Amino acid sequence: MGKVISIVNNKGGVAKTTTAFNLSCALSRLGKRVLMIDLDPQSSLTIYCGLEPLELKKSIYDVLTNHCEAKDALMNSPIEGIDIIPASIDLSAAEVEIVGKIGREFILSDKLAPVVEGYDYIVIDNSPSLGVLTVNSLIASDYVISPSEPTYLALRGLEILTSTINQVVSFNGKLKFMGVLITMYDPRTSHHAEVIEELKKSYPTFKTMVKRSIRFSDSCLSSQSIFDYAGDSFAGAQAYLDFAKEVIDYAG
Ligand SMILES: Nc1ncnc2c1ncn2[C@@H]1O[C@H](COP(=O)(O)OP(=O)(O)O)[C@@H](O)[C@H]1O
Ligand SMILES: [Mg+2]
Repeated sequence: MGKVISIVNNKGGVAKTTTAFNLSCALSRLGKRVLMIDLDPQSSLTIYCGLEPLELKKSIYDVLTNHCEAKDALMNSPIEGIDIIPASIDLSAAEVEIVGKIGREFILSDKLAPVVEGYDYIVIDNSPSLGVLTVNSLIASDYVISPSEPTYLALRGLEILTSTINQVVSFNGKLKFMGVLITMYDPRTSHHAEVIEELKKSYPTFKTMVKRSIRFSDSCLSSQSIFDYAGDSFAGAQAYLDFAKEVIDYAG
């Protein structure tokens, strides 16, 4: 049975999409069958995959609004062995359309159930909000991973996220907060080192940290994973591989 992982943080620009994409690629390199789901109306993961949101025949919007089943919206991603259910801007309309429905928080979970067993991992990329789409993601998930920059404000933002997770647990008892992935870490910044110490006291935190590097933005421009763009020997690629191994150790 596939493990469903939500990549969530209520802040934007903290490497959620970068993590969803490169974690998926690392899991695939480790022999896992992976499905990525883009649940952000900004469609960054879809664009990262080199897909054009305006040209999609089917997207997660059609799945959530019951115009099709999850299997009908599956596509091949540019990375061999990884499938994606892409998003387009009309996903923001889905948010409005489903908000008045009874059981609205369970739509994604119900729709994913028939495809989950075809994969080892399902990785869901979320928008920087804790609205009805993200709650759908959390209800459909086994685990939450929160990428975060090691700054004071980001640390404070995690309080809101963990309180939302605690509320969701009453509807989805299997949901576990796997941990915070520290990203964009700069070892020369003393503020970062101080915040990391605080973070580790308050939240489960992955041993692996991803350092700041311009190569991440460049890889995204060329729709390549950090492995394909910078090579496996690049420290950032190695970090995502080590992180994926921690995820597998945790989730099985
Ligand atoms: N480790 C990193 N170092 C430097 N830049 C990064 C790193 N990880 C991601 N980025 C860049 O930061 C920006 C925001 O990342 P993104 O994954 O889109 O964040 P989010 O999905 O949380 O909004 C992107 O331009 C991305 O390429
Ligand atoms: Mg994003």
